[in-house]
Amino acid sequence: MLRRLHPEQPDSFEFTPANKAWAEKQIAKYPEGRQASAIIPLLWRAQEQEGWLSRPAIEHVSDMLGLAHIRGFEVATFYFMFQLAPVGEVAHIQVCGTTSCMICGAEDLIAVCKEKIAEKPFQTSSDGKLSWEEVECLGACSNAPMAQIGKDYYEDLTAESFGEIIDDLYAGKVPTPGSRKGRFASEPLSGLTSLTQHGENRQAANMSVALAAEKGDTVARITGD
Ligand code: FES
Repeated sequence: MLRRLHPEQPDSFEFTPANKAWAEKQIAKYPEGRQASAIIPLLWRAQEQEGWLSRPAIEHVSDMLGLAHIRGFEVATFYFMFQLAPVGEVAHIQVCGTTSCMICGAEDLIAVCKEKIAEKPFQTSSDGKLSWEEVECLGACSNAPMAQIGKDYYEDLTAESFGEIIDDLYAGKVPTPGSRKGRFASEPLSGLTSLTQHGENRQAANMSVALAAEKGDTVARITGD
């Protein structure tokens, strides 16, 4: 797929003061002369702030790192996690369509996206809130089919449970990530077959889901720490 900058661009980009301070902290983590290594977290934070990566945002991040703009464009256009065009204001949904997910029902999830969001990928819904695309394997194959929304994974989906997540997003609710079939992680659906005593004492949700639920920032714009 061709990944190009969007034809319509804003005039400028600035990090919010809190995000600027956060970005400077990230840059300081790298040894002298290696600051360019901070490019991924900085581009990601710019996207978390704005929803997508504009040309001024990529140039701004490149300038912060002392890089030629082309170096920033190389990174931003290479990785699919970076959105180069405006997406849904509330969320952009990435549905995995690779083998495990396809066998387990990804096509049903894409049909839900077409019905509830827009016929084509990267089109926004009529109210501008949501958009979607099909992506390659996101590494949660054992909990297929799944989708990434914001920075979190929603797993063991069905057309029905996925439709409920989309309805919640339209309604301004923040859905809880994780399995929709009650799995803690990627253990068998029928339950643990080993380390069963560990299962008795564990908390209700795994760390990743618990943190997302606690912060409630799954689809929020990040304007500070
Ligand atoms: S095939 Fe969908 S997460 Fe790997």
